Amino acid sequence: MSVPATTITFQLSNGQPAQTHVAAPGESVLDVALNNGIQLQHNCGGVCGCSTCHIYVNSGGEHLPEISDKEEDFIDRAENPRINSRLACQCIVAANTQLVVTIPPQHFLGH
Ligand code: FES
Repeated sequence: MSVPATTITFQLSNGQPAQTHVAAPGESVLDVALNNGIQLQHNCGGVCGCSTCHIYVNSGGEHLPEISDKEEDFIDRAENPRINSRLACQCIVAANTQLVVTIPPQHFLGH
């Protein structure tokens, strides 16, 4: 019997169709996006030190780790923060979870 997989469905803001990918427990949403060629900025390298990996978690958010004060501070500085905003590098997925996230438009300004 196979173990039910953890999947992340990425809804993209660049006009591309949504993509669903399997994630290993312990991976972050940022890891899974980058491993599958989905553009998501990560200026601090995934250490909760920026707000460029900002995403919206549309469903499954209750299975993610609690949001930290530091993450909340950076989300406040992100573009268009909403109640379901998270930083993708801080969203470590658990086993047997189905997540649906939206990647906001990515602006590549300078480097
Ligand atoms: S990559 Fe900087 S906070 Fe996630």
